[in-house]
Amino acid sequence: MASKAVTLLVLFLALIVVVAAAAVEARRPQSDDPTAAAAHAKRRSKDATPTHLHFFFHDTVSGKSPTAIRVVDPPASSSSSSSPFSMFGMVNVMDDPLTEGPEQDSGPVGRAQGLYMASDQNTIGFLQAMNLVFTSGDFNGSTLALLGRNCPLDDVRELPIVGGTGAFRFARGYALLHTHWLDFQTGDATVEYNVYVMH
Ligand SMILES: *[C@@H]1O[C@H](CO)[C@@H](O)[C@H](O)[C@H]1NC(C)=O
Repeated sequence: MASKAVTLLVLFLALIVVVAAAAVEARRPQSDDPTAAAAHAKRRSKDATPTHLHFFFHDTVSGKSPTAIRVVDPPASSSSSSSPFSMFGMVNVMDDPLTEGPEQDSGPVGRAQGLYMASDQNTIGFLQAMNLVFTSGDFNGSTLALLGRNCPLDDVRELPIVGGTGAFRFARGYALLHTHWLDFQTGDATVEYNVYVMH
């Protein structure tokens, strides 16, 4: 009798395992982009060396077709408690081109879409939140999400990568930003990006 009870118990436990496995399978997304999935699987199987991306970011705020627009001016009242130089409270929204080289007409890499907001009362310090949307090369169709502090007058700024899509699922890493060119009259700038991402 005891052995029969043990057999029943084993069968019961086996059933639980099968049901649990089926439940896990059912939770997987039904439709998946095979290209992104394949690229991702390939990356995951490699050594834990970050992917290095190098490109240039063009922020044009002046002229007839700016790629970044100011949606909130720094409130006049903020100048009493903060340095006017800081532009505290300003918000710009951007859809800036990313290119292979420092020239605007060099090979397109993608877009930087998001915002930068002056959030430091004493100096020019932005909260920058953006998606890097890749439109060519190995990572065409994939995105990286960045969120961090950008003080544009610093030589090198570091922004954390907080996530990604497509080939960049599970992304983590950082981007180093260095101003390549800045027009102090207009505020237009070209920034060199070195991105190191694990995915
Ligand atoms: C990027 O992918 C899109 C969608 O698959 C495609 O239409 C486009 O031609 C690709 N661009 C490049 C430069 O490969």
